[in-house]
Amino acid sequence: MKSAILTPVKEPAETIRIIYERRAVRKYKNKPVERDLIQEVIDAGRMAPSAINKQPWKFYVLTEKEMIRSFSKEIAAVAIKEFSRSGIRNIVKTASHLLHFSHGFDFRAMEDPVFHGAPVVIFITAPRDNEWAPLDIGMCAQNMMLAAKAVGLDSCPVGFAKFVGNTKLYPRLTVPDSEEVFLSVILGYGDEHPEIHDRRKNNVIFIHESSGY
Ligand SMILES: Cc1cc2nc3c(=O)[nH]c(=O)nc-3n(C[C@H](O)[C@H](O)[C@H](O)COP(=O)(O)O)c2cc1C
Repeated sequence: MKSAILTPVKEPAETIRIIYERRAVRKYKNKPVERDLIQEVIDAGRMAPSAINKQPWKFYVLTEKEMIRSFSKEIAAVAIKEFSRSGIRNIVKTASHLLHFSHGFDFRAMEDPVFHGAPVVIFITAPRDNEWAPLDIGMCAQNMMLAAKAVGLDSCPVGFAKFVGNTKLYPRLTVPDSEEVFLSVILGYGDEHPEIHDRRKNNVIFIHESSGY
C-alpha cells in the first residue's frame, strides 16, 4: 500500500521547510552559478559532523560545460562496462534505471547522461583508509544540498561519480592516489519541479521498557 506523502508540521522552521523542499533536480537552466554561491554551499558541507572530527572531505569543482560533458560521457561508458563485467544481464535497462531515464535511450548520443546538464559538478573525495568516509561524505553532501536550496539553487547527489576513477579523464581532476571519489553533488538553477516522492512510514519502532528483554 502506498504511504501518504509526508508533510511538515504547521509553519515549519526555515531549516525544516528547506529539508522538505529539496528535490533531486535533473534539468537545469543554461545559467552559470556565481562563484560565491558555490563557495557558500561548500562551506556548509564543511560544517557537517564527521567521525572523530576528521573532516575527511575534499572538493574538486568543475564549472566548464565542455569538461563536464566529457566527464559525463566517459563515466557513463565506464559504468556500463562495469555492469557488463559484473554480469548484470539487462545492462541497458539497469543503466537506464540508475541513470534515471524512464524510457529507451542511447546514452552515448546524450549530451550529459550523468550530470543532467548541471553547470556545476563537485566531486567529493576522502582518504581511502578512512572507514567512516562514506558516512561523513553523505552528511557533508546533504549539508551542501540543503544550503544550495537555501540560496536559491537546486542540486542532485550523483553516485555514478564513483566511476570517474576509471575514466581516461580522471588525471585532469588531480585527485591523489591516497584519495577516492565517493560522490558528486551537482548544482544549478533548476528547470523542473519534480514531484515529491512518497516516503515510507512503516519504519519506526519505539522500544518500550514493558516489551521485556
Ligand atoms: C547516494 C546517492 C546516490 C545517488 N545517485 C544518483 C545518480 O547517480 N543519478 C541521479 O540522477 N540521482 C542520484 N541520486 C538521487 C536519488 O535518486 C534521489 O535522491 C531519490 O530518488 C529521492 O528523490 P529526492 O531526492 O527528490 O527526494 C542519488 C542519491 C543518493 C542518496
